[in-house]
Amino acid sequence: MPSPAPAPAAPPPAAVPIPLSSVIPPLILGTATFNTQYVASPEHMPYTPIISRALSLGIRAFDTSPYYGPSESLLGAALTSLSPPRDSYFLITKAGRRGPSDFDYSPAGIRSSVERSLARLGTDRLDLVYCHDVEFVSPADVLAAVSELRRLRSEGKVRYVGISGYPLPTLTSLSLSVLEATGEPLDAVLSYSHFTLQNTSLSSPAVLSAFAAARVNVLLNASILGMGLLTSRGIDAAPMAAWHPAPPALRSRCTELKTIAEAEGMGLEEVAIRWSLAGWATAAAAFGSASGGRNARTGVSVTGVSSVAELEETWRVWSEVVSELEGGTPGAASKTDLVRRLAEERIWPALGEWKDYTWESPGPDYVPTGPSRPRL
Ligand SMILES: NC(=O)c1ccc[n+]([C@@H]2O[C@H](COP(=O)([O-])OP(=O)(O)OC[C@H]3O[C@@H](n4cnc5c(N)ncnc54)[C@H](OP(=O)(O)O)[C@@H]3O)[C@@H](O)[C@H]2O)c1
Repeated sequence: MPSPAPAPAAPPPAAVPIPLSSVIPPLILGTATFNTQYVASPEHMPYTPIISRALSLGIRAFDTSPYYGPSESLLGAALTSLSPPRDSYFLITKAGRRGPSDFDYSPAGIRSSVERSLARLGTDRLDLVYCHDVEFVSPADVLAAVSELRRLRSEGKVRYVGISGYPLPTLTSLSLSVLEATGEPLDAVLSYSHFTLQNTSLSSPAVLSAFAAARVNVLLNASILGMGLLTSRGIDAAPMAAWHPAPPALRSRCTELKTIAEAEGMGLEEVAIRWSLAGWATAAAAFGSASGGRNARTGVSVTGVSSVAELEETWRVWSEVVSELEGGTPGAASKTDLVRRLAEERIWPALGEWKDYTWESPGPDYVPTGPSRPRL
């Protein structure tokens, strides 16, 4: 009797996807600053020295967007000239926002945006792509855009998919909708100006548990200086004055904080950077990076600079924060503790009713000009 045919070999087990938290670094350099919204002439700013110094310091992730004018092209040119190995850095961009009121979240629009970003950044894959500023379009448009980004993922052009935006209720509800509609959670949500010395809402237990219910893997905190609101120069002396959504009373209240910081021998930006980086590293540990060389996960922050000196200052503060997280120098007074006390005892009382103030986004004058439908 012939022996029975051997059972067909079991198919190899499907590869378990590596969570974003295992590969994303805990500190990301944003390049919205490589645009006229932040500097007078981006082409003449030291974009290659900034990227070069970031790489030499060990900053391995860069955030950009098609919406940031020449940013993708300048970042791409800097990376091409410096030519670090492609696997040594993590490249993040966005899709869907083309101008202040111009949004195209259609699958064809998202696809052509990704193709254009690949060309501008001189790469064959994007490590993370967000749907940019999701509060401006309908939830149906966001779902369609996320699905298209996941199709691009299956083609190897995109590795991880997320959403970015400002209003926290929109970010939490869309995160849950994506999970319920697709059965798969978002890899990343980027929130900005919501965990700063001025507005701390992102760390509220209700917000964090809503993101946990939506099973978001990494929750990123961007704009730790509130897009220039919390600097010694003051927002009204910066190019951001022209478009920044903070109302005049909040702007002037923030300029008063400079004196409080200087009385402690620090610049306002140092206080603000330290407060956010240190606070978020622990407050968002459950949504943080596991690739920072620590045993615990570290909440991920996205910083923005317009000069090498600002990068050096941010790095110095970050290095001190990491050293404190690792136990610090025994017996040494923690500068972060001093900053936390300063926030509670002097800065928040000075901000008064403006602490945790959240502006409207979209603003009242938003009139869509692109093909995507507005959120109702
Ligand atoms: N919707 C979204 O997806 C979204 C929204 C916001 C941000 N982001 C991302 O997050 C990144 C960070 O946000 P951001 O650029 O708004 O960051 P930010 O830290 O809030 O503001 C950056 C500005 O702060 C000033 N600054 C930074 N470090 C300084 C220092 N040490 N001393 C003095 N001034 C300093 C610089 O302004 P001066 O030029 O005046 O010196 C710089 O242009 C962006 O670049 C972008 O990649 C994404």
